[in-house]
Amino acid sequence: MSLKDAAIAVRENAHAPYSNFKVGAAIRAASGTVYVGCNVENVAYPEGTCAEAGAIAAMVAAGETQLAEVYVIADSPDPVPPCGGCRQKLAEFGSGDVPVTMGTTAGAERHATIADLLPGAFGAGHMAGA
Ligand code: THU
Repeated sequence: MSLKDAAIAVRENAHAPYSNFKVGAAIRAASGTVYVGCNVENVAYPEGTCAEAGAIAAMVAAGETQLAEVYVIADSPDPVPPCGGCRQKLAEFGSGDVPVTMGTTAGAERHATIADLLPGAFGAGHMAGA
């Protein structure tokens, strides 16, 4: 199954009764294995989690820590970019050149890299003096 098809499939499982905005994310890790996640909202709104966070958690739980490719999909007029927090989460496990494809259920796509999404990222090097 392609990364796109995996993201489309997992999006169906999103728990989004408050926003009615379902998001699916699929990530390919360095081993080639694909991990998926969907947004999981909560009646206590700040407790909700993004699709990307779920996919990353699944990858880490499986013992992998290196992203190779990312696909995020939603039913939106324009491809939805990962939120700020998810950009930082992606940067934790992927180098700047990792491709991130943002798709819509209607078939539009936008291509970027993690570095495009998080220029000037805070990294471990900034704590060198600590
Ligand atoms: N959401 C994601 O899951 N990923 C994104 O990249 C953007 C936003 C979710 C969070 C929330 O459940 C809903 O979309 C509306 O913000």
